[in-house]
Amino acid sequence: MWSYANPVAIHWTDDLAALLPSLLPQGQGLLIAYPQFREPGAAGLLSGQLNGVPLFNGIENNPTPGQVQQAIDFALPIGPQWILAIGGGSVLDTAKLVRLALARDCRRIDELLEMAPREPSAPGPRLLAIPTTHGTGAEMTMWTTVWDKGNGRKLSLSHPGNYPDIAVYSPPMTYSLPLPVSFATTLDALAHALEALWNRNANPVSDELASAAVRLVAENLERLADPVPHEVRANLLRASMLAGLAFSNTKTAAAHSISYPLTLRLGIPHGIACAMTLAALWRMNAPKMPDKAERLRLQLGGEDVARILECRLRFVAARMPFTLSAYGAKPDDLATLVRESFTKGRMDNNLVDLSPSDVRAILEASF
Ligand SMILES: [Fe+2]
Repeated sequence: MWSYANPVAIHWTDDLAALLPSLLPQGQGLLIAYPQFREPGAAGLLSGQLNGVPLFNGIENNPTPGQVQQAIDFALPIGPQWILAIGGGSVLDTAKLVRLALARDCRRIDELLEMAPREPSAPGPRLLAIPTTHGTGAEMTMWTTVWDKGNGRKLSLSHPGNYPDIAVYSPPMTYSLPLPVSFATTLDALAHALEALWNRNANPVSDELASAAVRLVAENLERLADPVPHEVRANLLRASMLAGLAFSNTKTAAAHSISYPLTLRLGIPHGIACAMTLAALWRMNAPKMPDKAERLRLQLGGEDVARILECRLRFVAARMPFTLSAYGAKPDDLATLVRESFTKGRMDNNLVDLSPSDVRAILEASF
């Protein structure tokens, strides 16, 4: 028995300025966007349509509870009927939490993060999400991640009230993404897709979506070079969307679980931290899902999947730091990284049970 559901309405356009007016509801709005939004050139694609809409853009990568609190404090007196979130995963996650805070009239992020997953919530303002990276899939999921860097903790809240109402995909919105961020977010999407496959919660729909996403990344990753063709941005955005639809139903697994201390302790970009372990995890998980693995092999042209993954990861590693030591890790850090790799609700989704010594061996190979 299985089921699949995702309530987010999807729109796709190359002409966002033409589509947007038909999607924005009446009434007071709130714009939550990446820091450079409204700088000359950054938002030319929307050509002034959002002038006059209050803008919060104080979100850095991997938002802290303090930054999300600032966003909530900004939004509460406005009382918006709709929120438009434009940015990467950090911006979208913040917007999701702001919407939930408004829906519950909850003024404090610490109280919000303690909300039970099944606690009922009013709908709140309508939330439209426009991703500007092709990776996080945050516009498709009902969870949010907040990084308590001071205490070395990753906090997350999974609640149906976090689903955006609408996701709008527009490849031109990703044109200005620098190459290192393009690599990192593409690898995040690849990790979402692979983790949806080697997942105890997988179902036939998530498998199809995830396999299609892996294929799109495998075919397009090496075409990420200045200037990136429109077709490549569009294909990678589609990969990110499909991976998002897949892992919205399965959640992630071992690669993400192992990545969290790598990001918290070493500052490794999320997508890179997830990708470092993908080839090793494929080799461990593939024998547990022989039919799926064989189907994916055929979809990738009949080549060995692990070898394709290693080849694509080497391509990225030749262009940006891709080892633990390159991010300052010392052999003495291993014990802590291994201990903090076991996140409940992520590691336990993995098809193969990993022991601390398995994780240690994988991380040692990533040094
Ligand atoms: Fe991710």
